[in-house]
Amino acid sequence: MPNRDVAVLVGSLRKESFTRKIAKALVELAPAGLKLDFVEIGHLPLYNQDVDASPPEAWVSLRQQIKAVDAVLFVTPEYNRSVPGVLKNAIDIASRPYGQSAWDGKPGAIVSVSPGVIGGFGANHHLRQSLVFLNVPAMQQPEAYVGNVASLLDENGRLVNEGTREFLGKFMAAFADWIEKNGKR
Ligand code: FNR
Repeated sequence: MPNRDVAVLVGSLRKESFTRKIAKALVELAPAGLKLDFVEIGHLPLYNQDVDASPPEAWVSLRQQIKAVDAVLFVTPEYNRSVPGVLKNAIDIASRPYGQSAWDGKPGAIVSVSPGVIGGFGANHHLRQSLVFLNVPAMQQPEAYVGNVASLLDENGRLVNEGTREFLGKFMAAFADWIEKNGKR
């Protein structure tokens, strides 16, 4: 398999974020050939279409970073049964200017994470709604709703459960296949 660059976007800014810990585990479990890099989104000014005539450097940089990768991995908590605003803001910024969306055609995958039992199902599927419009083919199977996350990590933020490690490893292998089947190059 050729090397593929993948942007990892995390929907939490919290220092001890469970979601970021799961994202780090996903990076470690990815098959050789996938090069995953975190794209930070916490510093991005809120999207304002008026400002886009002369966009802030942070927006320009985000758009370039997304355009430069082969695929995108979203790892997100659930806020009020949807994605946190910080992630939606990044999605909106990189979708503009109209007709120049950085997301267009990039294969994607979603992992939702929650301390609750539903595993962020609402966020996962709300995000899929945006990805349909953005023409991001989002991997359908396997789905990944990481629930009860506090019980899956030790004090160093590492996975304690072999079954979870195995599942997330299979998820990343499936994502690598998905990128090959649905990517542009
Ligand atoms: C939450 N949380 C939450 N959890 C959930 O499973 N479904 C939900 O709809 C919500 N809604 C929600 C709204 C807001 C504003 C906050 C701050 C939190 C709880 C959330 O899952 C919990 O805080 C996680 O720890 C957030 O993920 P990180 O920051 O640990 O990655």
